[in-house]
Amino acid sequence: MASTKQLEGQVALVTGADSGIGKGVALALAQAGAKVLINYAHNQAAADEVVKIIKEAGGEAFAHQTDVSQEEQVETMFAKIIQTYGTIDILINNAGLQKDAKFVDMTLDQWNTVIGVNLTGQFLCSREAAKEFIKRGVVEGVSRAAGKIICMSSVHEVIPWAGHVNYAASKGGISMFMKSIAQELAPHKIRVVGIGPGAIQTPINKEAWETPQALNKLLELIPYNRIGQPDDIGKLATWLASDEADYITGVTIFMDGGMTLYPGFADNG
Ligand code: BGC
Repeated sequence: MASTKQLEGQVALVTGADSGIGKGVALALAQAGAKVLINYAHNQAAADEVVKIIKEAGGEAFAHQTDVSQEEQVETMFAKIIQTYGTIDILINNAGLQKDAKFVDMTLDQWNTVIGVNLTGQFLCSREAAKEFIKRGVVEGVSRAAGKIICMSSVHEVIPWAGHVNYAASKGGISMFMKSIAQELAPHKIRVVGIGPGAIQTPINKEAWETPQALNKLLELIPYNRIGQPDDIGKLATWLASDEADYITGVTIFMDGGMTLYPGFADNG
């Protein structure tokens, strides 16, 4: 990683930035010099706290509530960031949730909510970002790209997950969504990249790490033998959004301590 101000003069929007991976990414982008819109769905106090941390460190940020699965709300959010900071350079499609259930018990509501936020949300936000990137084009001295879209996926983009079929389907969907828009937007100098986190210590998977027993069981799935931290993903997102990664588009980078290495095969098969 090069200079700490590699995103100076750029504007970023991070969805679901009030907690977990989104918060870690927002703090990392701000530290790298970006102005950041902290999007949240419900927890205004948590979003305000992220803004406060950024401002106290000398950065710029503001919080904005939007349910990313709602078209009009997404349009309003993009109007707001453009009105406040003039444009947008980086979109981090991070907002995501789990509504776990056994397949035969899964309700349509659980299915629709997860697909709505995790997948449709990425569609709605990416479409608005791409429109602005294309309209504005490359600005010399800011970035070599006209814009960067980072799609938060998961190891469950490739690892099937019983009991979480809606979630895994949303992440598998993100993979082809990301690649297809990367292909379509590359001629406009827009880069689209996926990040596939493994187990990162956040509220979404609290049950998997909150007791030593649960954590030990989880570590069986992680050859590198530690749980990830939001800051791990924050550093990767910052680098991917920077010009150091200017030739990367249309791929998911897994950051998972080896979870996608099928550790069960280390002594079996
Ligand atoms: C899920 C977590 C899970 C991790 C590894 C993530 O995408 O949100 O709940 O711990 O994948 O299975």
